[in-house]
Amino acid sequence: MPPSFNDDSGNLVQLHGLRFAPLFSEAQVRHRVRELGALLTERYADECPLFISILSGAFVFAADLIRAFQAPCEVSFVKLSSYSGAKSTGQVQTVMGIDAPLEGRHLIVVEDIVDTGRTLHFFLEYLRAQRPASLCTVAFLRKPTAAIFPVAVEYVGFDIPDRFVVGYGLDYDGLGRNLPGVYQQTEVE
Ligand code: IMP
Repeated sequence: MPPSFNDDSGNLVQLHGLRFAPLFSEAQVRHRVRELGALLTERYADECPLFISILSGAFVFAADLIRAFQAPCEVSFVKLSSYSGAKSTGQVQTVMGIDAPLEGRHLIVVEDIVDTGRTLHFFLEYLRAQRPASLCTVAFLRKPTAAIFPVAVEYVGFDIPDRFVVGYGLDYDGLGRNLPGVYQQTEVE
């Protein structure tokens, strides 16, 4: 079945035959991301932090978050993966590393969603070993299952139910990343 999109007025979206209902509108997302940007600006204004965006899912969130950060900063990207379709594979692999030196830097990890926490747990361990000046994590979304791998996430956009979600960078088998709001799955097939 082809993906069907609609306007941004809160209708259902269908991707690869799964249906998704609105969870957060574009306006709600924009508002929350600006709040997070303001909090980070307050804390890091004089530190020239390095934002590390975890690809692919966090690219939309990171793009908005760094523009809501009102002070000098740098940005880097890392690609990790633990998902295939709508199920976690249970494996975390580094696919693409970071080239910037991390020692002595103030690092802000930008993640799209913390599900089990496995991805972050793995990545934060790696970053700690690089001896940064400080390390904090910002996740756009967090599920209740995040407790499986306890990781410190200092800033969370929204805590959400344990449902598969798409939009604002998050995909279902490649589709849905360009939806401006967040949608949750309505039925399991
Ligand atoms: P974790 O390692 O189990 O915390 O999984 C984190 C990664 O899985 C995220 O960075 C996402 O890329 C992906 N993921 C987890 N839950 C969802 C979801 O509901 N929709 C889309 N991707 C998800």
